[in-house]
Amino acid sequence: MEKIALEDRIFNPPADITEQANAKAGIYELAKKDRLGFWDAQAKELVTWFKPYDKVLEDSNAPFFKWFINGKLNVSYNCVDRHAKSNRHNKAAIMYESEIGKKVCLTYGMLSREVNKFANALAGLGVKKGDRVALYMPMIPEAVVAMLACTRIGAPHSLVFGGFSPESLRDRINDCGAKVLITADGNFRRGNPFPLKQNGDKALEDTPTIEKCVVVKNAGNDVAWVEGRDVWYHDVMAAAGNYYEPEAMDSEDVLFILYTSGTTGKPKGVVHSTGGYLVQIQSTLKYVFDIKDEDVYWCTADIGWITGHSYVVYAPLALGATLFMYDGTIDYPDKDRMWDMAERYGVSKFYTAPTAIRTFMKWGTEYPKKHDLSAIKVLGSVGEPINPEAWMWYYEHIGGSKAPIMDTWWQTETGAFMITPLPGITPLKPGTATNPFPGIEVDIIDENGNSADVGYLVIKSAWPAMIRTIFGDPDRYVDQYWKRFGKYYFAGDGAKRDNMGYIWVTGRVDDVLNVSGHRLGTAEVESALVECPEVAESAVIGKKHDIKGESVCAFVILKEGFKGSQELIDKLRKHVGVKIGPIARPDDIIFTAELPKTRSGKIMRRLLRDIAEGRAIGDATTLADPGAMKDIAAQYAGKED
Ligand code: PRX
Repeated sequence: MEKIALEDRIFNPPADITEQANAKAGIYELAKKDRLGFWDAQAKELVTWFKPYDKVLEDSNAPFFKWFINGKLNVSYNCVDRHAKSNRHNKAAIMYESEIGKKVCLTYGMLSREVNKFANALAGLGVKKGDRVALYMPMIPEAVVAMLACTRIGAPHSLVFGGFSPESLRDRINDCGAKVLITADGNFRRGNPFPLKQNGDKALEDTPTIEKCVVVKNAGNDVAWVEGRDVWYHDVMAAAGNYYEPEAMDSEDVLFILYTSGTTGKPKGVVHSTGGYLVQIQSTLKYVFDIKDEDVYWCTADIGWITGHSYVVYAPLALGATLFMYDGTIDYPDKDRMWDMAERYGVSKFYTAPTAIRTFMKWGTEYPKKHDLSAIKVLGSVGEPINPEAWMWYYEHIGGSKAPIMDTWWQTETGAFMITPLPGITPLKPGTATNPFPGIEVDIIDENGNSADVGYLVIKSAWPAMIRTIFGDPDRYVDQYWKRFGKYYFAGDGAKRDNMGYIWVTGRVDDVLNVSGHRLGTAEVESALVECPEVAESAVIGKKHDIKGESVCAFVILKEGFKGSQELIDKLRKHVGVKIGPIARPDDIIFTAELPKTRSGKIMRRLLRDIAEGRAIGDATTLADPGAMKDIAAQYAGKED
């Protein structure tokens, strides 16, 4: 019998899910017939509005679109109050476990109390509607409380991933002009406290807008203290009142700013607004993960990324679900830690990234086998294309060959899922995100903007959770996303369409890397490298990596008088780690005498990727110096010896 390639195998939706799924057959047709009508119905069903909106979409000032015009609402009211007032009052909202085994459970009633108190505490520190608040926090319930408290006041938050360096934190605080920083003393990593506040203190040496720093006592490590600036979370909470009237926010008011890497050295502050975001994140989670009241939902993303915002915190809470969150490493004390917790908490919906799946796969099946994972009904994947082998392993060993895998394609800028299967409807194929979500219009186009089966992924019409602008730089917003293909949003990804019409996202086509599902700009790493006195020039590429998807590989030209050595490699790697954060540290640094450049001076990273991945070197005819490739290849080969 002919063997069917993994990516051609078809997995039909399980009958038990189809029978009772939230998304019923016909949903695509319905949304296609009346796209705005679909979003209108979602907005009415899923959001509690203080004042109804007048109109669904305003597109007269494209690409500055507005959704749910003149509607008034509050996100913390939707995530907490409405459940705390209902028969979900005593339902678990958050179940949390720390690496060292500390457990916390907050019901909706309890969460409501905490959020109100912390909103009062922040107001007491001078935070008002419109002020920015920076968060540099571990995955602890207080982080969720802090995010919700900001939304209650109407103060946009800006979270910075705890793995980012003090310099990265400082730049983000200064770019958005945050008034308050919320952080923690530390958190545990492989049993040892990681000194988060120490990093925060370093960042705050040069952040003129910061007035106060709120510190959660979490790991119990010693911290330095700046009198007049620093306050303990538990102290301000003890003094805070129990109720804070939620601010009636306009649908288009800013909800949060989240920095992400682009094609220049400076990260972009992606601005999300309130109404459209709350509609689309709920609608997508409800249908894609088929959220039911009895679910225990676990998304493993860190709250410092968009997945953590939309699908750890806001969507599950707005839907009144029970979420589980874990702060710690995935193999502490042993490699079955995740499955141990999935079993103990009865996790029924599990959402993680391909890089984690490939790590679990490398460790072997004995770890998930030790645990009863039969409660799992739906699985999810996000962050990068999932390779069919990892898909199959996830399907068989975590999902027990019965839980469908939702491969969700989206971005920091899209705010919510855009291309994804629906668990009761879509036949799956390993490695494809399949179809656009109902009410979302995407296409694949060629250089000239014509629909094609292979080419650039674009979004053809506005969507509710879309990026509104780049903080402080509306021109960059227009240039970055809307210039290349006119009225279409260009996502920066390449894609192809198969014979079932499914979309296969193949990865970035711009100068952005995807390392373990985290976005990094080649220009960010390059500018960190050229800060070192020895470095004249550098070119950074993403090199295929079995676990991380891509690893950072840097080609470096040294200034006259410097010689490449292992010490210098170590020094450069360390510098990038300090400058950006450990995730940006290059795995490979290759010293070279030249870089492949076009006559206009643009570095041809494609050719460097060919060298690094051991392929025949592609078309080099546009190079200013076609001979350069041979020398670079020889230098790369020298490094391998
Ligand atoms: O290249 C795509 C990849 O991740 C990029 C977005 O990164 P970020 O804004 O950090 O958001 C990650 C979490 C939503 C995309 O441009 N990507 C994300 N999900 C997928 C993916 N590539 C293929 N398949 C996916 N499911």
